[in-house]
Amino acid sequence: MSIENCKIIEFPKILDERGNLSFLEEGKHIPFEVKRTYWIYDVPGGEIRGGHSYYRNQEVIIALSGSFDVVLSDGEQERRFSLNRSYYGLYVPNGVWRSMENFSTNSLAFVVASEFYNESDYERNYQKFKNAQVVRL
Ligand code: TYD
Repeated sequence: MSIENCKIIEFPKILDERGNLSFLEEGKHIPFEVKRTYWIYDVPGGEIRGGHSYYRNQEVIIALSGSFDVVLSDGEQERRFSLNRSYYGLYVPNGVWRSMENFSTNSLAFVVASEFYNESDYERNYQKFKNAQVVRL
């Protein structure tokens, strides 16, 4: 999948002096059926998460708290998205290599996923990922 298919989704924002509220709904804000969510927290400074791609799984990644960067590659182009607002989500289709880095202290990455956890859906070898992209082109 090309990096051009990755996009920022803006969630609704209900501004209130008692505190703001955002939400997401399957079908409306998330472009796939949601099967799973997971979250990444307590990331020590300098750590990198998620150097892999998925064969089927699509995701929307949200910085619910703090900030971090998502670095995406389709084997040709690379793009970095800095996430630092809880009302933005980054849509990452299957077949895109991604890693997450520059986590701020107390950041919370919330991920909405289209598939149940399945280790065989991961490609963790960048060279194999790249070769598969070339075959597809
Ligand atoms: P992994 O996806 O490799 O983390 P990251 O890409 O952020 O480095 O997952 C780390 C471990 O957690 C791995 O052993 C699998 C397990 N895991 C689950 O059991 N269920 C899940 O939904 C996820 C995302 C991971």
